[in-house]
Amino acid sequence: MTSEDVTVARTENGAGAERTAVRVVRGGPVLVEGPVDIELPDGCRVQSDRFMVAICACGRSKNYPLCDTSHRKRRRRSTD
Ligand code: FES
Repeated sequence: MTSEDVTVARTENGAGAERTAVRVVRGGPVLVEGPVDIELPDGCRVQSDRFMVAICACGRSKNYPLCDTSHRKRRRRSTD
């Protein structure tokens, strides 16, 4: 990931509170400015204190829900 891939902006909403912008990378993760507390469907919680957190959107990460760049690996076609 390069710095050009990441765009995060904090903006003020109508009530004056900040909101966090996230960026969806096509074929890759969802980038969220950290730290974050992620709640999974089973109720488990995962925390990350990183400046930028890449949340897996492809389902192939061995470190789910965090991206481990497995989305970059190409799937081989079957030669059947
Ligand atoms: S989005 Fe990167 S491993 Fe799933």
